[in-house]
Amino acid sequence: MADKKKELLAAARRARDKAYAPHSNFPVGAAVLGSNGRIYSGCNVENSSLGLTCCAERNAIFAMVAAGEREIREILVIGDIEDFLPPCGACRQVIAEFAPPSAVIHMCNKAGACRDATVAELMPFTFHLKKGS
Ligand code: THU
Repeated sequence: MADKKKELLAAARRARDKAYAPHSNFPVGAAVLGSNGRIYSGCNVENSSLGLTCCAERNAIFAMVAAGEREIREILVIGDIEDFLPPCGACRQVIAEFAPPSAVIHMCNKAGACRDATVAELMPFTFHLKKGS
């Protein structure tokens, strides 16, 4: 496994350990590699008003944007389950806002094995408000 991917996996696992998921008991961690080479991580944060929950991927991406980076090179997501964890539809839309179609999404199982897909593969026919954005 490439060094950067190892770093992404470790960062996503560390974030997953901090997940606030008392309602689903479904902790998730995500790590984003920005085009600047830096890694940003996030975990899911749930709420008693369930619709206010925010997924790990979006929290990681929002941390990236708050730090001044706006382009995702790769993103890795990991749950605590045997299956590979694909990003939900809402997160796919947010990923597509900040990632080129060729960016890679690593969908991992709890053992750290990953299935990879590009943004174009996971999110064809993406809605963009402005052309080129
Ligand atoms: N969740 C994520 O964090 N990312 C996903 O892509 C799928 C779902 C979270 C949201 C909620 O806290 C829990 O997993 C169960 O849906």
